[in-house]
Amino acid sequence: MKNIVILISGSGSNMAAIVRAAEQERWSVRLNAKVTAVISNKADAAGLAWAKAQGLSTAVLDHKAFASREAFDQALMAQIDRFSPSLVVLAGFMRILTPGFVAHYEGRLLNIHPSLLPAFTGLNTHQRAIDAGCRFAGATVHQVTAELDHGGILAQAVVPVLPEDTAETLAARVLSQEHRIYPQAIAAWLRSRG
Ligand code: GRF
Repeated sequence: MKNIVILISGSGSNMAAIVRAAEQERWSVRLNAKVTAVISNKADAAGLAWAKAQGLSTAVLDHKAFASREAFDQALMAQIDRFSPSLVVLAGFMRILTPGFVAHYEGRLLNIHPSLLPAFTGLNTHQRAIDAGCRFAGATVHQVTAELDHGGILAQAVVPVLPEDTAETLAARVLSQEHRIYPQAIAAWLRSRG
């Protein structure tokens, strides 16, 4: 069985979309894969309570309790590796990862970013797309490599930017597409690994 570990920091709506897709599409039978654990760097992440209620294993690792980024990432790897993951999924995990962490999970670490990469890496993507006068925005599922938001692209979704959009309305439109493409991209990734 391929274990999937999902990392979150907040509401966890992408994580929930992945967990629901895994159930509805019977990934355990059809793809020999299951979401095994959800790990958050924030104890109060809403997604964590939801995951617990689904009966998933959960863990919290507070980055503020560690003296350095390296020390946090080492402890995080130890937590993740308890679940023997075939795939580690970043779903709104708001931490920059060390090269050591990325190398450890090379080829089995995915992220979703709320822009049409390579445009608008980093934070505040929706306001930046509006300010730039973009007519289209979207989301990208990509492999994670050492350079932030730069790995190989697995899937993208495009949405229009409407004249009356605020960062919030655009974010909501993009997020609903994230919920569609992230589970799809993960299922395709699992299929490609046999
Ligand atoms: C998503 O827009 C994701 O792309 C970004 O942060 C948001 C997380 O939302 N990195 P959620 O926690 O999955 O609800």
